[in-house]
Amino acid sequence: MKQLVIAIDGYSSCGKSTTAKAVAAELHYAYVDTGAMYRAVTLYLLEQNIAFHDLAGVERALHELHITFRRNRRTGRNEVCLNGTIREDDIRQMRISNLVSEVSVIPMVRHAMVAQQQRMGRKRGVVMDGRDIGTTVFPDAEVKVFMTAEVEVRARRRQEELASKGEIVGLDDIVENLRKRDYLDSTRAESPLRRAPDAVLLDTTHITIDEQVDFVLERVSAAL
Ligand code: C5P
Repeated sequence: MKQLVIAIDGYSSCGKSTTAKAVAAELHYAYVDTGAMYRAVTLYLLEQNIAFHDLAGVERALHELHITFRRNRRTGRNEVCLNGTIREDDIRQMRISNLVSEVSVIPMVRHAMVAQQQRMGRKRGVVMDGRDIGTTVFPDAEVKVFMTAEVEVRARRRQEELASKGEIVGLDDIVENLRKRDYLDSTRAESPLRRAPDAVLLDTTHITIDEQVDFVLERVSAAL
């Protein structure tokens, strides 16, 4: 059967990765969480004490760090590894969420991540979620979905996700983080968060995960 690239872009915490993961499992496609890659770069820079404006340091870091994904057989989760070590929980912390958009704006970082994402999807048969998949990484993706939802709904979902991992964060702090990231992600010069002209809009404010997954699968059927 024809192997497609499915690009799922949109605002922070709209349910992109939950939907993308379920679609990938249904189709037996690979799943790539591109946000996890920018988070991993952020974690590495912090741990190596490299300031984000130190471009020589950032360049060195990009040569040193190796980002891969490993499937956890027990949970079925795709976990991000930094130089061979699973760092999934570390990259999801609020301290990383608060800084990641300052790292993802750096052109050198974007070039390195986009190139790796293009290599990961070159055989197609992949679901990729992020901010610029349908516009920059795979402008030729056969299915493009752009997800959005009201910010309070997104913040509540994010709060529950963090709480399930033992991190208790106030709703106001999460709303502020989402608004800031949406702003920085949409206004940066290099591959900003933007709906591709041929992407279909999916507002997840009032719909369930199953409905989101069905929506994408219907698009996939139409593209096959
Ligand atoms: O998807 P997630 O919320 O984990 O992404 C974290 C951050 O990574 C985003 O706020 C954005 O700054 C950056 N990102 C990006 N391009 C992508 C995916 C994520 O700039 N394709």
